[in-house]
Amino acid sequence: MEEKGYVWFDGKLVRFADAKVHILTHSLQYGSGIFEGIRAYKAKSGTALFRLEDHMERFVCTSKIYRMELGYTKKQLADAVVDTVRKNRLESGYIRPFAFYNDTRIGLGVSGKKVSVAIAAVPFGSYFGGKAKGIQCKVSSWKRINSEIMPPQAKASGNYRNSILASEEAKDSGADEAIMLSAGGFVAEGPGENIFMVKDNRLVTPPPSADILLGITRDSIIKIAESCGIIVQEREIHREELYTADELFFSGTAAEVTPILGVDWRQLGSGKTGPVTKLLSERFSLITTGDWEGFEDWLTYL
Ligand SMILES: Cc1ncc(COP(=O)(O)O)c(C=O)c1O
Repeated sequence: MEEKGYVWFDGKLVRFADAKVHILTHSLQYGSGIFEGIRAYKAKSGTALFRLEDHMERFVCTSKIYRMELGYTKKQLADAVVDTVRKNRLESGYIRPFAFYNDTRIGLGVSGKKVSVAIAAVPFGSYFGGKAKGIQCKVSSWKRINSEIMPPQAKASGNYRNSILASEEAKDSGADEAIMLSAGGFVAEGPGENIFMVKDNRLVTPPPSADILLGITRDSIIKIAESCGIIVQEREIHREELYTADELFFSGTAAEVTPILGVDWRQLGSGKTGPVTKLLSERFSLITTGDWEGFEDWLTYL
């Protein structure tokens, strides 16, 4: 489908195959792009974009952190996302807004270099494919970046070299995904996911001080859990708590709610998806398709 589709590129919808850059492009060479990931769901009243405004807000915040002039307002960008999804007649899938230095001059400096913005919208299924029912994780030897090195709250291309190192290491060792610790040694997050732990009927998740990306799904899960009467705690989590947790799961736009069934070759609970994860996963899913009342504000229908 995407081969036939369109990409929004600097204000124009161009054919998928024509959305090209030069090999010397600054952001390709130095990882200086910034991006977002948004899901479109086939909802009750048509295709709905999940928390579009919040994603665009984070995109603009990332550009601010890196002092990148996007040249578009948040509203213009949100409208462009809607146009792109419409043009591609996407019923559900993944949308990737991307801003980058579209300039072939060699050198790190970005001042005076052209910023381009592109938005792609493609079909996309479960991030962990056949493993969506539960994955095995390994605590990474790679620490999560922190604000003294690179801003973890920015969703920026270069940051993801850190994530890729961790994820590949985990896969090479036979696990499905990594769990990264902060420089302080506490649990931070997955390479592209936030993490939640269920312990004694409380839902616990690392705070911003653990050097996490402030996930929009994370925020959604916190609010959904509270609406279900579950006590939510944002606090530092020790590595060993992962081994004795009742339940663990990842949250993220790509990962949605993915149960973690084992960490470092220790089985969690019964080795099956636990009741709290199941409840939150089901509720999240109903909300994304407009089938649960009270969260309609999170959906932008096309
Ligand atoms: C490092 C990292 N943490 C967490 C998340 C989850 O964030 P969100 O729920 O906004 O997709 C992502 C994915 O965007 C990520 O890349």
